[in-house]
Amino acid sequence: MDNCNVPVVQTIDLVKRYGDGVGTLALRGVNFQMKQGEFVAVVGASGSGKSTMLNMIGALDRPTSGHVVIDGHITSRLNDEGLASLRGDTIGFIFQFHYLLNEFTVLENALMPLSVRKGGPTRDELAWVKELLGRVGLADRMKCRPTQLSGGQQQRAAIVRALANRPKLILADEPTGNLDSQNGALVFDMLRELNSQFGIAFMLVTHDDRLAQEAERIVMVEDGHIVADYDVAKVEEQIV
Ligand SMILES: Nc1ncnc2c1ncn2[C@@H]1O[C@H](COP(=O)(O)OP(=O)(O)OP(=O)(O)O)[C@@H](O)[C@H]1O
Ligand SMILES: [Mg+2]
Repeated sequence: MDNCNVPVVQTIDLVKRYGDGVGTLALRGVNFQMKQGEFVAVVGASGSGKSTMLNMIGALDRPTSGHVVIDGHITSRLNDEGLASLRGDTIGFIFQFHYLLNEFTVLENALMPLSVRKGGPTRDELAWVKELLGRVGLADRMKCRPTQLSGGQQQRAAIVRALANRPKLILADEPTGNLDSQNGALVFDMLRELNSQFGIAFMLVTHDDRLAQEAERIVMVEDGHIVADYDVAKVEEQIV
């Protein structure tokens, strides 16, 4: 199927309520679309619903109502097995804390999404992951344990792990939140480069306005709503 024009992400009236009764209304009807290969920064105050939005889009949790469509698949129509395979084939996750496993080497950690699959990584997949580790400057760290790496290097290894299955979409929740500004900028630049080189769509939550300005598009979340959604280049044009 030629699905070049299918949005990689679409949400329709997405609502998420946590808890029983009145609970907390974390998303109040979010309608959002993202094209293949786009780089979107999600910004907003603490508690505004950014992580909830990412978790729904990444099928880590089910919405209270509304729909999420990932690469043409309506996630509410999938059972747990279908969701797991959609996550495994299409989506890569990067979190604030990298969750690398110290019992394994950097290379083994990066290969993990492929190793848990039946048959394990193919020769091509192994070559791809090694190439990525080289691109993020970890060629000579592959056999190290994660704790032998700096914070920035650990996050770079986690990025490679997210890319191992060649996802169409990367969801990154404050991937630079735990790094100093110099390492944060380095990691961000790498994500931007991987986005432009491989056409992988990125949806990235950040609290750093300077980094957000380096995205193609900024989505601002407030109290469970998208309150602004704009193309960074177009706004810059207007300012100039
Ligand atoms: N598992 C949960 N159970 C109950 N309430 C939750 C849960 N997760 C989030 N919430 C609530 O939902 C709202 C949105 O939370 P969310 O984590 O999406 O915010 P956020 O924008 O990611 O904030 P931050 O910038 O601090 O990470 C908040 O009021 C939060 O307290
Ligand atoms: Mg959050």
